Amino acid sequence: MHAPYCARHYDGRVTQDAFLENLQYVLQPEGWQLLNSLPPYSEDGALALNEKLRREGHPAGAVAALLTQSRLRARAADKFGEFAQRMLFTPDGLEQATRLSVAAHHAQRYAALSPQRVVDLGCGLGGDSLAFAGMGLNVLAIDRDPVTASLASINLMPFPSARAEAGDFHAYVPTTGDALWLDPARRENGRRLYDPEECSPPLSQVLELARRLGSDGAYGPVGVKLGPGIDHAALPDDCETQWVSVRGSVVEAALWCGPLARPGVRRSALLLGPGGTHRLDGTGEDSEVPVGEVGPYLYEPDGAVIRSGLLGTLAAALDLHVIDQSIAYLSGAAAQESPFLTGYRVRDVLPFGVKALKAYLRKERIGNLVIKKRGAALEPEQLRRMLRPAQNGDGRATIFLTRVAGKHSVIVAEPLKNTEAEPL
Ligand SMILES: C[S@@+](CC[C@H](N)C(=O)[O-])C[C@H]1O[C@@H](n2cnc3c(N)ncnc32)[C@H](O)[C@@H]1O
Repeated sequence: MHAPYCARHYDGRVTQDAFLENLQYVLQPEGWQLLNSLPPYSEDGALALNEKLRREGHPAGAVAALLTQSRLRARAADKFGEFAQRMLFTPDGLEQATRLSVAAHHAQRYAALSPQRVVDLGCGLGGDSLAFAGMGLNVLAIDRDPVTASLASINLMPFPSARAEAGDFHAYVPTTGDALWLDPARRENGRRLYDPEECSPPLSQVLELARRLGSDGAYGPVGVKLGPGIDHAALPDDCETQWVSVRGSVVEAALWCGPLARPGVRRSALLLGPGGTHRLDGTGEDSEVPVGEVGPYLYEPDGAVIRSGLLGTLAAALDLHVIDQSIAYLSGAAAQESPFLTGYRVRDVLPFGVKALKAYLRKERIGNLVIKKRGAALEPEQLRRMLRPAQNGDGRATIFLTRVAGKHSVIVAEPLKNTEAEPL
């Protein structure tokens, strides 16, 4: 059996072997029922709950399993919402699982294609498969690790159109009517892997399979989750890659092959956040971003736009420019409302220097700062320490440590929308 979890102390409390042994308890009807009847997990209440369960006569291992699952369910609510309350997790499986809001977007592509079956090759705990099944698709979820596959089985239980089994990517035989989803493992012994060829399965093998599933040399319907930092050179030309950000953090790049790719779209950015869902599409030939001076407004583009190489497309649409050839801040003459941008009104641009900056903040009575940087070696917290002590007053500002036309500079600005600034 493959070692699915690292041999370090598992979840900081129990070892891997103990975790698996204890898990058997919650797989029994009595343990399952008890787990589902526990109060919402809280760190403060965990000790008292542990003692209560022990007093009621439950063995120590069983109690450990119950509390571990209860804690993981609480943690998983961020990714799975209320579904988490009837799922089972391993810490690593949860960390690698696709959040449901993102998986729902994956699922929409398959639903639009209506394949006979979606095969999730390396399904983990079933994060993506849940969304596929939730859309009414027929799902076969496969994982090479038998324990993970068993947990995926339980997690998919509410969906009669889905089943999970243990198996290997290499054993899958391309079958007409199948569409595939792959989320290759990007961790090994706790180490994060950045090279898609080091992942399991490697990207080249996935693409080879995608060709075999297609016809006349074209790719078949295959989707692959990749790390957001994927080198564009590793991406095939005739597929769509979509970078996804959730509340401002880029969480993945998904490669869509064959009929799962949208015609004419090669690179796209998808933003999911409290402000709704927004998409920016590109042909793969991003326009050059013009370079200009710092204008009255400065903009931070969403990471998905930067990673997808669509900065030029966005800048051209909104009449913006960069302030340095190599830095992804945009600037312009007008205040822009765009979901792809966080905007600031520029107050001043100063050459970088701690002494001069301290004097400036004192003179302007700015005592609360958000410090951001791009293209500067100094970390915001280092600068914050250098600027102390400061009794500058109640003023607020956001400062950007960056380069302007190649020169280390500080841009002092105010957000167009309210954000929290920390006292110096
Ligand atoms: C990143 S996780 C998948 C997470 C999943 N998408 C989710 O949302 O829960 C990758 C999974 O691929 C499985 N895996 C890695 N290599 C595999 C192979 N050759 N065949 C089948 N499964 C494999 C690992 O065991 C791991 O559970």
